[in-house]
Amino acid sequence: MKDRVRKVFERLDAPVDALLVANSVEPHLDLSFFYLFDVPSGLFEGSVAVAHADGELDVITSPLEAQSAEEAAKHDPHVHVHTAERDATEAAIAQRLDGAGTIGLNFAELTHAWATRLASARPQSRWVDVSAALRKARSTKDAAEIERLRRAAEIGSNVGREIPSLLRPGITELELAAEIEYRMNRHGANGRSFSTIVAFGPHGAEPHFQPGDARLAPGASIVCDYGAIHRRYVSDITRSFRFGPRDDEMRAVHETVERAQQAAFAKIRPGTPAREVHLAAAAVIDASPYKGRLIHGVGHSIGLAVHDGWGYGPKADDALEEGMVFTVEPGIYLPGKGGVRIEDDIVVTHDGYELLTTAPRGYLEVAA
Ligand code: GLY
Ligand code: MN
Ligand code: MN
Repeated sequence: MKDRVRKVFERLDAPVDALLVANSVEPHLDLSFFYLFDVPSGLFEGSVAVAHADGELDVITSPLEAQSAEEAAKHDPHVHVHTAERDATEAAIAQRLDGAGTIGLNFAELTHAWATRLASARPQSRWVDVSAALRKARSTKDAAEIERLRRAAEIGSNVGREIPSLLRPGITELELAAEIEYRMNRHGANGRSFSTIVAFGPHGAEPHFQPGDARLAPGASIVCDYGAIHRRYVSDITRSFRFGPRDDEMRAVHETVERAQQAAFAKIRPGTPAREVHLAAAAVIDASPYKGRLIHGVGHSIGLAVHDGWGYGPKADDALEEGMVFTVEPGIYLPGKGGVRIEDDIVVTHDGYELLTTAPRGYLEVAA
């Protein structure tokens, strides 16, 4: 992981003697820990990674996950694993930090409990925020990360192709969500990257709707938004369907969202300010009868997290770079009626983008 440690250090605004990433307990894990320490299994609650400017990484872990940690370290001569009981963690940190005076922390994820522990263990240290450097390093993916994201997207696409065959009258949103999650695991996922969204009819007007007991009835629109985890890296995909008889309005809505997505795709290349991707999709929707019904940013970075640090919004000035991986997910939301969102995952290439998700996204009316 020397390259990743160095990548973070190169992006610091001001030098630090060492950088410390401390995991708390679920759900307060700091995914930057797993960026620096590429270990395929385990939660590593309470574990700490200490990164040094020369690229070396010390990992202080509990006996609980020592086996996975040592196995991962075998593949990387720059990673050094130290096993310590919880009450010996501070002493182990002190050893790894040696004489370091200025220490970088991920203020964006560090819990207050950890900040207090560190401050009382090392009153002589100066703690500075390095969350921006971590975010920037994580935002352009290396080849190993892209490979995992590609596989996570493939799992999502495989399930997307199966969803139409799962639609039947009377199935509930929760049952359909369970099928989607089961199938992701059958296709090789380690889990879901967020709580699966299945929204029937008017529920689809809310982008982050949580599925419930609503039953599928002819005439409903359907939004399914889900994602797989593969070796800690995620996908995020949405497909929208129509169940039962033709509905010209929902067809027009779907076609508008498709055009918005194509307009967004057309902007993606290195150097483009992220906001232009959003604005291109919004312009298509705002020129339609559904003006103003795109109610969120048109995409976000994905990686170890499903919302991996930043995204396209109307004010996102940062430029796209090769190796960034994003969703592109325009939607139209019609309160009381339903919604359509189409979401795909892309990687920015040297001259454009490559789609990672491949499930058909055209309008599909499934016979009831
Ligand atoms: N799955 C939540 C989102 O698309 O951002
Ligand atoms: Mn998304
Ligand atoms: Mn999504």
